[in-house]
Amino acid sequence: MGAPQLQNQCINGFTPETIPAGAPFTDLLAPAVADMGYLELVPDQTILSMADPYDIDGDGISGVPDWNLIPSYITPLNGAVEQQGKYICRIGKKASVYNIFEQVCRALNQDIGIVSEFEPIDTYTHQSVTAEISNEDIQKLVFYLQTIKTPTQRNPDDAEVKRGKELFTGIGCTGCHKETLTTGYSSCESLSFQNFHPYTDLLLHDMGSGLDDGYTEGNAKTYEWRTPPLWGLGLAPLSQDGAYYLLHDGRAHSIQEAIEMHGGEATARKNSFDHLTDENQKAIIKFLESL
Ligand code: HEC
Repeated sequence: MGAPQLQNQCINGFTPETIPAGAPFTDLLAPAVADMGYLELVPDQTILSMADPYDIDGDGISGVPDWNLIPSYITPLNGAVEQQGKYICRIGKKASVYNIFEQVCRALNQDIGIVSEFEPIDTYTHQSVTAEISNEDIQKLVFYLQTIKTPTQRNPDDAEVKRGKELFTGIGCTGCHKETLTTGYSSCESLSFQNFHPYTDLLLHDMGSGLDDGYTEGNAKTYEWRTPPLWGLGLAPLSQDGAYYLLHDGRAHSIQEAIEMHGGEATARKNSFDHLTDENQKAIIKFLESL
């Protein structure tokens, strides 16, 4: 009630929330946060150069940025492109949040109930209240998230991994999972003008009816999802009792299952994967596990 996050647990004396009758809802898996500093610095021009809303190149893949109004406390990147007051957002499963600063302020408020100067409305009482966290502490949280090291590929020179990477590119998975992006300027030297390998285009794609959960954030359609970065994929089970929980709600329990659930704009690439020999499919999975 009052915020998009369902508070199904609470402290003594309060009642946990349940989903109001008829309200649209979805389950979203908490994302890994070890990749955000680079992603928030990708220039808008780069994102626009990968978008192809009308599929003019005819490859079956369009891809659109999530244009949204942004809160007044957010300073857009230098050179940010504006369209009717909206900016290109990129954080989150639906790319609906502008940057880490906005994500931190919103998550403090909506996920754990801490109001700040930037998000001052208490989601329980709907009243504006005095900040419960200092701006300095918010800055520290943001800087921490900006600088968490991204996972590096473990065995890039392994022959099967190399072959898997060629096949991944060859069948066009890189139409959305773009290998290399470059950051723009940052006052933090280690983030400034860096090449990095996230395997995402930060764009929204129609992923078909199987992944349409009837829920949305920002201006994304219910069947659109932001291409998730694939770095760290092979490390994920280490923090999840050895299991995989892939796609937005964790419904896929192996890399192969996640690929099989690709639909919409990704259908042709999924079909190409299905037509590969077992050995070649294994090589792609081995490559993905190395990320
Ligand atoms: C049209 C764009 C597009 C193409 C082409 C595409 N993907 Fe994806 N991929 C996505 C999106 C979007 C998701 C997230 C969907 C969701 O969360 O429901 C995803 C998710 C994944 C995931 C799960 C990642 C995670 O952290 O949950 C894997 C693995 C993956 N893709 C591999 C591949 C492979 C291999 C190919 C080529 C056969 C491919 N993808 C082609 C857009 C694409």
